[in-house]
Amino acid sequence: MEQLMRDFFLFLSKNKYLTKLAKKYGLRFGAARFVAGETIQQAVNVIKDLNSKNLVVTIDYLGEFIDNEREAKEMADNSILAIEAIGREKLKSQLSLKMTSMGLDISDDVVLGNMRRILDAAVKNNVFVTIDMEDYSRCQKTIDIFKQLKSEYDNIGTVIQAYLYRTEQDMTDLNEYNPNLRLVKGAYKESPEVAFPEKKDVDENFKKIIKMHLLNGNYTAVATHDDAMIEYTKQLVKEHNIPNDQFEFQMLYGIRTERQLELVKEGYKMRVYVPYGTDWYGYFMRRLAERPANVAFVLKGMVKK
Ligand code: FDA
Repeated sequence: MEQLMRDFFLFLSKNKYLTKLAKKYGLRFGAARFVAGETIQQAVNVIKDLNSKNLVVTIDYLGEFIDNEREAKEMADNSILAIEAIGREKLKSQLSLKMTSMGLDISDDVVLGNMRRILDAAVKNNVFVTIDMEDYSRCQKTIDIFKQLKSEYDNIGTVIQAYLYRTEQDMTDLNEYNPNLRLVKGAYKESPEVAFPEKKDVDENFKKIIKMHLLNGNYTAVATHDDAMIEYTKQLVKEHNIPNDQFEFQMLYGIRTERQLELVKEGYKMRVYVPYGTDWYGYFMRRLAERPANVAFVLKGMVKK
């Protein structure tokens, strides 16, 4: 049953008609629990609050699967506005973004042009930029773009997904760049031809790549809400005397807020992924797919209104 619900929400996450409808009608259906607001000012207020609790942030102007150059440019302009807000307001925040929002599905020139504008602004404002990883069909292209930009800029990292069979090889190939990587389990619906179908195999591979990246001496963001993975990381760094400034934990805004604060109290760096903007639909559906229990929460919220 749970697997059926997951598949259903992942199916819904790709529906273009519902995406447009959601944009038109604003932050509804409980999405506000996971999204910091529709405007940069709302996001800035949320970040200030998180920073005051010693949580650091990565901000994301929501958008994906853009299919025309004008909208991709607008997406880049909005990411630059977010970077300038970080600089101006002295926020402890990085920036995350998706390559399909920058024009990955249009052309290399469009996506690289938009990314260079963003990275120039990010260098000026001392902001680190992470390229989120999307579905399998965009993985190779995203890694190629990352490698190209990493050879031009220092302040860039990307994401590697534990559920893909190709991941261990990707980590080996990327090692020469000493990349700052966010490691995740993976959020998209993938075929068993390319991704581990069983959760236990994903978890094993997740542990394997956490260990690999840390022992290679690279900066590692362990992005998970799973206590087993967090405990594994804590033990590993202790055993190998890895300093606290070589890694951080990351969680999503609105998920396990108490646990985020506990990790800060324990002395770990904890970064919260804070999305904002009107294109929240796909992001929201993936969150429901990860934890169908959230559906009950959302329904309760709707009944109250
Ligand atoms: P999983 O979903 O397996 O949950 C494991 C356990 O965690 C649960 O059994 C429960 O104990 C606990 N838990 C989870 N949610 C909870 C909740 N709401 N309340 C209480 N307990 C809870 N994916 C991707 O493909 N590309 C990307 O670029 C990113 N980026 C990204 C950034 C950040 C900061 C995070 C945290 C995640 C991503 N992801 C992502 C999403 C990621 O791939 C994955 O889908 C989710 O993090 C869910 O997997 P978990 O590792 O959290 O564990």
